Amino acid sequence: MRRASCPKTETMKNVLFATSEARPLIKTGGLADVSSALPAALRELGIDCRLLLPGYRQVLAMLDNPLEVARFQGLTGFIDSRLLLGAMPDSGTPVYVLDAPAYFVREGGPYHGNDGIDYADNAERFGLLSRVAALLSGPDTPLDWHPDLLHCNDWQTGLAPAYLHFAGRPAASVMTIHNLAFQGIFSPDMTTRLGLPPESFQVAGLEYYGSLSFLKAGLFYADRITTVSPTYAREIQQEPLGMGMQGLLATRADRLTGILNGIDTADWNPSSDLHLPCEYSARAPSGKRRCKAALQADLGLDVAPEAPLFGVVSRLTHQKGLDWIVQIAPGIIDRGGQLAVLGTGDKAIEAALRDLVNLYPGRVSATIGYDEALSHRIEAGADLFLMPSRFEPCGLNQMYSLRYGAVPVVTDTGGLADTVENDINGFVLADASAHGLWQTVERALALFADKTAWKHMMLAGMTRDFSWERSAREYLRMYEQAAAGQ
Ligand code: ADP
Ligand code: GLC
Repeated sequence: MRRASCPKTETMKNVLFATSEARPLIKTGGLADVSSALPAALRELGIDCRLLLPGYRQVLAMLDNPLEVARFQGLTGFIDSRLLLGAMPDSGTPVYVLDAPAYFVREGGPYHGNDGIDYADNAERFGLLSRVAALLSGPDTPLDWHPDLLHCNDWQTGLAPAYLHFAGRPAASVMTIHNLAFQGIFSPDMTTRLGLPPESFQVAGLEYYGSLSFLKAGLFYADRITTVSPTYAREIQQEPLGMGMQGLLATRADRLTGILNGIDTADWNPSSDLHLPCEYSARAPSGKRRCKAALQADLGLDVAPEAPLFGVVSRLTHQKGLDWIVQIAPGIIDRGGQLAVLGTGDKAIEAALRDLVNLYPGRVSATIGYDEALSHRIEAGADLFLMPSRFEPCGLNQMYSLRYGAVPVVTDTGGLADTVENDINGFVLADASAHGLWQTVERALALFADKTAWKHMMLAGMTRDFSWERSAREYLRMYEQAAAGQ
């Protein structure tokens, strides 16, 4: 597959970063962190990287005086919309906001209502986002700013490389997989309803087991594919983590790169974090003890300095292995430990956590909801951080944990395997199961009892560099290869 035309420059100048979430405007998970930090890091390297984001209610409410820069009328299959230009509140990164109130201004979250049910018109909503991303990257753009490359993220922008392909590939495109479990599957008739040619609906196209998959479209038509860690890039070329896409990914292996996410080291810095009652650092770690005592008091846990405190901040889903944590919680309590969980998601997991709180008052705390400040205070107050994900494309919380001296206990998968070194800066499960988690927790507790060895392990994590600059340079190299048709 070759582009008919592409920018011939060796040097990448302009990049359009299309995404369905970016913090602080709208966030459901790590994609939002990446979508704000990576464009900012690319801008530091001299790239004019701009965001394209849907105009959700939350986004419009937070943007300061956005300017209307274009109107889109009569795009096949979509309602009329406008394009606004604003700036990201923290970094000032320019952000194009796709204003289509009937699609995006809703009471619930970005993908589903408060009832947890996906919006019935998600194909149109994110079809339009993809369509506009492609339009802005081609000769028919109404803007005087032209991207050399379109960077798409997850299924919500997956149709964009298909639209670009059928427009003659006027710009290079990259598709980044943040999580292969979400594939954007819709009925086949949406293909033509969204303005794509019927011949695109085939195995060598966007057809996926009889349905239309937005993600598959991106994986098939983009010039390059990336995912967010080297290990996940290998894992998804096979079953089971390929989740049905392994064949396509394996055939495009020479176009697939794993680039480890960074973390926002300004936001996540225990020596300047305004969410914490007390600052600390690798050189002066003693403030962590006060953070722990304050956290225990705030969460209604016994204020016990010697009790090993296990933290969890997570979407409460099967992916994250929360059921294993629930199973081993009595063992942790039995060994004198404590557990502090913050998360929201699966109702059965929420209920199981509430039961644990009732069974072990003063020892288990579960905050059901989304709370950014508390997520920082848990990282700062916890001695250990549990993240036994069944799969984890990258994972950010284990990196926050390393930086905050909350020693991570993780499964040997994806980005967890690429960031946590067993017995050096954390603990890696030998076996991905509740039993494997328990065995690893026992190992961790044994080391916790040895104060000197523990401090050594904490410091190994706290001093590791997870800044975005290294990853941004890798993205830049890959962009240049994509634009050069390599
Ligand atoms: P994923 O994107 O799969 O959920 P990541 O580890 O990449 O996993 O990113 C999750 C992000 O969302 C982190 O920044 C984490 O701190 C945050 N987060 C998850 N749940 C909550 C919550 N309940 N409250 C606050 N922050 C949360
Ligand atoms: C996804 C993945 C997570 C990754 C994040 C950002 O939500 O589940 O592992 O860190 O995207 O890339």
